[in-house]
Amino acid sequence: MTGAALLVRPAEPGDADAIRGLDGLAPASGRLLRHDLTTPDRCCLVATLGAELAGYAAATIQGDEAQVLDVVVAPERRGRGVGHRLLAALLAASEHRGAPAVSLEVAVSNRAARALYRRHGFVVEGRRPRYYPDGQDALILWRRPAAAREED
Ligand SMILES: CC(C)(COP(=O)(O)OP(=O)(O)OC[C@H]1O[C@@H](n2cnc3c(N)ncnc32)[C@H](O)[C@@H]1OP(=O)(O)O)[C@@H](O)C(=O)NCCC(=O)NCCS
Repeated sequence: MTGAALLVRPAEPGDADAIRGLDGLAPASGRLLRHDLTTPDRCCLVATLGAELAGYAAATIQGDEAQVLDVVVAPERRGRGVGHRLLAALLAASEHRGAPAVSLEVAVSNRAARALYRRHGFVVEGRRPRYYPDGQDALILWRRPAAAREED
């Protein structure tokens, strides 16, 4: 460990190379990163430990809905709550920007990600068969605003 405190802050263009180096980044994020980091309808956050990039999370915001594009933690930092911190900050930022309803897609077999999303109130609302190149299905998860959830 570096001994430095974990900090979550908005991503900056200067973070682009380090973000692209994260193992597990969605392919689309690698291609679109510079655009993502400077586009107003995107919310892109990084988690840092001193000078080290520990993780990255991004969402696109359209009207009152947000879609999570990526949550990825550096392999050597996984399992220590960095994903929780990043996702909580991303959800808070989306809500602050008027988009409390949040969706995402996750591979059926991605146990860590599914545990993370479940913990933050996401529920399965749909499925895309053979969505991923390896033939796996994607689950479509939503986290609705509290008022909408209470009406269920
Ligand atoms: C998914 C990911 C972001 C989680 O980040 P993380 O920092 O390791 O997660 P945290 O330590 O905050 O733990 C989050 C939850 O996942 C669970 N978890 C972590 N690793 C796990 C594993 N290998 N298997 C099962 N559950 C796991 C934790 O127990 C925790 O759940 P809990 O609070 O109910 O105990 C990380 O594993 C990652 O970067 N994976 C590769 C990229 C990816 O798949 N992103 C999601 C795309 S949809």
